[in-house]
Amino acid sequence: MSHAKLVVDEQFKIGPVNDRLFGSFVEHLGRCVYSGIYEPGHPSADEEGFRTDVIDLVKELGATTIRYPGGNFVSGFRWRDSVGPRENRPARLDLAWHSTETNQVGVHEFSHWLHKVGSELMMAVNLGTAGTQEALDLLEYCNIPGGTALSEERKKNGQKDPFNVRMWCLGNEMDGEWQLGHKNAEDYGKLAQMTAAGMRQMDPDLELVVCGSSSHVQPTFGSWERTVLQQSYDNVDYVSCHAYYHPEDGDMKSFLASGVDMDGFIKEVGSIIDSTKAELKSDHNVYISFDEWNVWYIDSEPSKNPEGIDNWPVAPRLLEDIYSVADAVVFGDLLITLLKNADRVQAASLAQLVNVIAPIMTEPGGPAWRQTTFFPFSLTAKYAKGGQVFSPKLASEEMETAKYGEVDTVDSVAVKCADGSIAIFAVNRSLDEEADFEVELPNAAVSQVSAQTLTDDDINAKNTLENQTRVGMKENLTASLDADGTVSVSLPPVSWTVVHVK
Ligand code: AHR
Repeated sequence: MSHAKLVVDEQFKIGPVNDRLFGSFVEHLGRCVYSGIYEPGHPSADEEGFRTDVIDLVKELGATTIRYPGGNFVSGFRWRDSVGPRENRPARLDLAWHSTETNQVGVHEFSHWLHKVGSELMMAVNLGTAGTQEALDLLEYCNIPGGTALSEERKKNGQKDPFNVRMWCLGNEMDGEWQLGHKNAEDYGKLAQMTAAGMRQMDPDLELVVCGSSSHVQPTFGSWERTVLQQSYDNVDYVSCHAYYHPEDGDMKSFLASGVDMDGFIKEVGSIIDSTKAELKSDHNVYISFDEWNVWYIDSEPSKNPEGIDNWPVAPRLLEDIYSVADAVVFGDLLITLLKNADRVQAASLAQLVNVIAPIMTEPGGPAWRQTTFFPFSLTAKYAKGGQVFSPKLASEEMETAKYGEVDTVDSVAVKCADGSIAIFAVNRSLDEEADFEVELPNAAVSQVSAQTLTDDDINAKNTLENQTRVGMKENLTASLDADGTVSVSLPPVSWTVVHVK
């Protein structure tokens, strides 16, 4: 049994939780769009062909801002293909995922879908094979009320009012050599700056995200951010971070401590933002948009692209990882890490939303169900949206990992919820030891405590088509309130818990 203690003091807060921390990501990749959110002919499809079973799950998940349409896809995307009468829209090769894009869902349809799920659009522009002019054209099409060629074209295509998209990503992972139109930091920085400045001339209050590194281990990490920010600092509001984790060489202990890496990544990018601000003598603030994060078994079979000059399937099964309990615990810890850094990370997107490394799975013509990762996301969003994060005053016993050395066995953060109650999120990263977890709340009059835990005797247990509800949240009956107001709860090995205190 290990021990950990969190002190939740009303007087020490990091700051408000931006709702955009609970964003997600829909890419034209595999079955995320086609037979994911959109499947005309499905028994649950609405009049526009959107699956209402998926809409209900997305609402339950609580995803706020949704990044679209990619990802690697956006670096070859010609946005004009995706608007206008559907019968005239061309089928195109998608070089990123070796697939055929039918363009049956585009900017208009996606924004209708967002309206149905109650989420906000975060649009990415193509700075791979396209450039400033295409980005400006798309912005004019989306945000100018009328009286110009492109705004009138939008109206003719059925959308009278502007889409009024506030958040825009200036390309995707331009540091990655796999990216169509990959550039060095100098060239990308210039292009991003030029595009950002032009976009602001049209719509000054946009929130713009410049590409940071596509992973913490990119060889150019650090110098990329510095160079790009030096060129674009005053014209952007966020720099992006992307991170995916999976167990390497079967090293589960390090995998369970992945939050340590994400935390370091955020802190390092934060330092570069601060030093650039100082060097440029700027009074403008730039934040982090952690707009791709998740567990992803990137080298495994589901992530292998189709091959062959005559084989460009439409919506193939790609990146359809099935998540275990252990994956969901790591995932819950990544959410804890984002919350702990809520002053710096003002937006984040879980990559992705449906079928593709996703919390929601679907079968064509069949059901939609929740993966294990669905639960930490929906509960964290439910309690933390509109809340305030407390400074994490945590003392935990440590455990040894091969990748990160000694790390806290228990990781935790607490949030003052919008209704005044307190939610504490905690993971026990140990593979075999239960943790005895105490929460001291010196300035709170607590009368009610409840806890739910995600755990299983089999840490590899999953929800599948055959058994869609194998894993779920269970009430943690060990949660108790001592006479002095301290909350205690047992955290099983490899578990994620939310404690709710009123
Ligand atoms: O989310 C899957 C892919 O991961 C995205 O398309 C890309 O941006 C990243 O490398």
